[in-house]
This record gives sequence, structure tokens and C-alpha cells, in this order.
Amino acid sequence: MKIYFMTALVAALAWVGTACSPKETSTNQLVLYYSQTGSTKVVAQEIQKALGADIEAIELQKPYTGTYAETLERVKQERESRNLPQLKPLKADLSKYEVIYLGYPIWFGTYALPIASLLKEHDFEGRKIVTFCTFGSGDMESALEDLKKALPKAEVAEHGFGIRDVRVAETAKELNRFLIDYGYLEGQVVALPGYSELQPVTEEEKQIFETACGDYQYPLGKPVLVGKRGTPDGVDYIYEVENYGKTNTVFITIAHGDGEKPVFTRVIR
Ligand SMILES: Cc1cc2nc3c(=O)[nH]c(=O)nc-3n(C[C@H](O)[C@H](O)[C@H](O)COP(=O)(O)O)c2cc1C
Repeated sequence: MKIYFMTALVAALAWVGTACSPKETSTNQLVLYYSQTGSTKVVAQEIQKALGADIEAIELQKPYTGTYAETLERVKQERESRNLPQLKPLKADLSKYEVIYLGYPIWFGTYALPIASLLKEHDFEGRKIVTFCTFGSGDMESALEDLKKALPKAEVAEHGFGIRDVRVAETAKELNRFLIDYGYLEGQVVALPGYSELQPVTEEEKQIFETACGDYQYPLGKPVLVGKRGTPDGVDYIYEVENYGKTNTVFITIAHGDGEKPVFTRVIR
């Protein structure tokens, strides 16, 4: 029994080892990120840890140090006047890296302004860019589209990683799946099924939506249709939502255990 247990343990450890081995050496991968309040930094550090890559934070000559409202106001003015924040010079020699994991918070539906400053200085020609971001509610798709347009000489990966700021503690697990799914990390994860066909929402599904989204600071709209799928961790829902005449998509998950509370994970506007 003891021998069987030890053999199983050694086999499991060997599997975990292969499940998470970085694909390339650290010398050709850089995690480059901007983070104002620390959420994107958490994701950046997880990527660095998972891949053994180099890492550098983008720093500003005049950081955004105010409250959330003050930051919003300063950013609004800078956007309107196209007066981008000045960056401190980067320490890393970008030409040394084949793959750059570029991270940012979402600001006003796109990448944060310090990234716009970075793109004025660097065109990332010939580099592979993999994006990651954090957000209050979503918009990672629109940010990625903007970034692709701004970097025509780079090879920007079709899919990026993103997570809500309030869920950043869940990063490691979701990031591991992302890195393996898109081939940045060798290993195996259980494939997730597709969502069921969208159907009109039932009262119970409306309630799930309300519980997950009701306390978000901005209204996310009225759920109309819903699809779902079972995963090893629980149940995922995809809602089609009407909001001010627009149709948006809202994702919600209910994890097994953890009080089975529905959690809103992101919106595509
Ligand atoms: C100026 C500003 C604008 C923002 N705009 C959006 C937005 O359009 N969509 C969104 O989901 N979150 C938005 N947020 C929330 C941030 O994206 C979110 O809190 C992010 O995780 C912050 O990352 P950080 O802690 O790395 O700075 C905004 C935050 C700020 C300060």
C-alpha cells in the first residue's frame, strides 16, 4: 500500500512537472506591463513565474497617484488633448526578445494610456506580442483590436488573457489554462465543452444574472438569452444582454463549493 502510494505520488509529481514546463528559455521572453493599482502586476508576476521570463514594469515620469476619480479626470483630459503621459526609459533591450507579453489595465474600453505612450516609442517590428489585461468589467477584445491596429509591424496574438480586478486572486489557474491552450506552456488541461444553444432566459437564470451583476457599479443590462456549459469546476453561463439599445455578452460562472455564488467574469460590449 505504502509502495503504491509513493509510486503514485512520484508519478503525479512527474506529471505536474511536465504539465507546467516553460516552452522557451527565459532569455527570449519578456513580460512588460503597466499597472496603476496592482492588479495587472499580479498577472504579470504569474506569467513571469509560469514561463521563467524576464519582467519589467513600465513606469511614468509623473505617476497617476490620485484617487480613482482624480485618475479618471486626468486620463480624460490627457485623452482629449492627446497629451500622453511621459514614460521613464525602459531598462530592457526589446530587440533581444522574440516574445513580449504585454500587459495593461483597460481604460475607457481600450489599453491604458501609458501603453499608447509606449507604442509611440516602439513599433515592436518582428516581435510576437501576447497581450494580457485586467479590467473592472471587460472590453479586452476592443483593446486587443486597437493594439493590433497600432502595431502593424508586430505579430500580435489573436487571443489575450484577461481577468476582472475583483477576481485577480483566481489568476494562476485561469492563466495556466490560457498558456497551455495557446501553446505558450507545455502541458495538459481538460478541454472545455462549447456552450449550449442560446435560449430565452428563465426566471431562475434571470435571478442568477441579478445575483452576479446586480452590485456592479454600472448597469450591465437586461438578460434576454442564455447558454451554458458544465466544466470540471462548475457551470459557466453566457448571457445575451440588452443595454441602452445595444446587445452585449456577459459571462457568469458558478463554481462548485464556495457557496455556489454566481460570479460575473467579463462583458463584451
Ligand atoms: C481611468 C480608468 C478607466 C477605466 N476604464 C475601464 C473600462 O473602460 N472598462 C473596465 O472594465 N474597467 C475600467 N477601469 C478599471 C480598471 O481597468 C481595473 O481596475 C484594472 O484592473 C486596474 O489595473 P491595475 O490595478 O493594474 O492598474 C478603468 C480604471 C481607470 C483608472
